[in-house]
Amino acid sequence: MHKNKILIVDDDLIIRKSLAAMLNEENYETQVAADSHEALEHLKNTQIDLILSDISMPGMSGIDLLKEVKKFHSHVIVILITGYGTIENAVESIKYGAYDYITKPLLDEQVKVVIQRSLEQQALKNENEKLKEQILQISESGDSLLLGQDYKFQKILELVHTVADSNATILITGESGTGKSMIARSIHKFSGRASQPFVEVSCGMLSETLLESELFGHVKGSFTGALNDKLGKFSMADKGTIFLDEIAVASPALQLKLLRVLQDQKFESVGGTETIEVDTRVVAATNHDLQKEVHENRFRKDLFYRLNVISIHIPPLRERITDVKILAHHFLEKFCKQNNKDIHEFSPDAMTELHNYTWPGNIRELENVVERAVVLCKEKIITQSYLSIVKETNLTDTLLSSTDNIKSLEDSLAGPERKIIKMALDKNHWNRQGTAHMLGINRTTLFHKMKKYNLHKNQGDI
Ligand SMILES: Nc1ncnc2c1ncn2[C@@H]1O[C@H](COP(=O)(O)OP(=O)(O)OP(=O)(O)O)[C@@H](O)[C@H]1O
Ligand SMILES: [Mg+2]
Repeated sequence: MHKNKILIVDDDLIIRKSLAAMLNEENYETQVAADSHEALEHLKNTQIDLILSDISMPGMSGIDLLKEVKKFHSHVIVILITGYGTIENAVESIKYGAYDYITKPLLDEQVKVVIQRSLEQQALKNENEKLKEQILQISESGDSLLLGQDYKFQKILELVHTVADSNATILITGESGTGKSMIARSIHKFSGRASQPFVEVSCGMLSETLLESELFGHVKGSFTGALNDKLGKFSMADKGTIFLDEIAVASPALQLKLLRVLQDQKFESVGGTETIEVDTRVVAATNHDLQKEVHENRFRKDLFYRLNVISIHIPPLRERITDVKILAHHFLEKFCKQNNKDIHEFSPDAMTELHNYTWPGNIRELENVVERAVVLCKEKIITQSYLSIVKETNLTDTLLSSTDNIKSLEDSLAGPERKIIKMALDKNHWNRQGTAHMLGINRTTLFHKMKKYNLHKNQGDI
């Protein structure tokens, strides 16, 4: 584990020694310097996180040291120690970038608290800067907005880039709000067809006749309401990409017609006799288990195989919980811009809450929660109280939250199970033996489950 490095600067040997001993006991790594010049030498050679320096020293004072440090090593935290005689200087030192000052006589507890707090704040700041940088890099690289650090998501991005240029049909699966539509658009954007149209059709939105006419067009008078000839979406997307969303609901007749387009890129418009040929790439998506639909004879097997040439499954957010942070920050920035607000971060307890939640509505739900928080928040930091997420997700709530799409028992239980394991780990200070005992499972099972749910100690208590 990374130990924070503290450089103690004081001309008094006894103070140097006793501070070092006390801080070593607190699990910090320490170095000592007898004056400011020596301190600057240390800074050249080692990565120091924090300087604890006396103000009045012969030669270069602690305040001069501070100015020098802020010029060349601005990320290093400086805490000054002052006697009664120099309190005014100490107050002034804050202006030059000191984090805080401590007055003599030094009390161990006080020193510990100030150091710990400053390091925590610094860590939070660094983390935010890192995230911002990542978000920026991604938006600049044109991948826009497709964010995610989890290796499962990284694999998906790789796949998206690899398959984008082929003409193969792609089937994207995943729960509602996981980013299927977004991935579909990216596939088009990364493909050679990018300058051609990307046409979206939501198969669940229309009646069978209307959907068929929407996809393949119709000739005037072919059904009531068909007042003019109409071009279908397959034709509009010629040379480009058609995105068939919610493909599982297509009727048997439509499935047959789709099969033919996929096989030989040919179809007739509704009521038409002419055969139309197109060069349209098909990307389809569903939040149903299409294989199960096939098994239960609701979806044609041959069509399934045609669609599923390449399949991309997007895991639910609760299975890539490490992505919550980067996504939450991204949405924070987005909604701050939209609402003209200046909020920089989430408080640690708000972040913990975001990590502990099971997100049945996935990224879309996270986006909504952050938007609401931004609108309501009157401070610079979003605290837990602004997050309108269900505090105690109970099992039935999780099961019922997606009645239109009942998940397998295993999937439904994943969220609550993770939460229970996390709670038990916390209660047992992450001691696996104790946790396994409490949960009535063996240590190997616990280990596997921790791996499955991405539970690690010291990851900001995720
Ligand atoms: N990786 C990501 N990075 C940033 N934003 C994302 C990501 N994935 C999804 N989003 C955002 O989350 C929201 C939901 O995504 P999207 O509409 O693509 O989900 P979906 O799976 O198509 O949902 P549905 O099944 O309801 O159609 C969108 O606002 C999208 O911009
Ligand atoms: Mg969608």
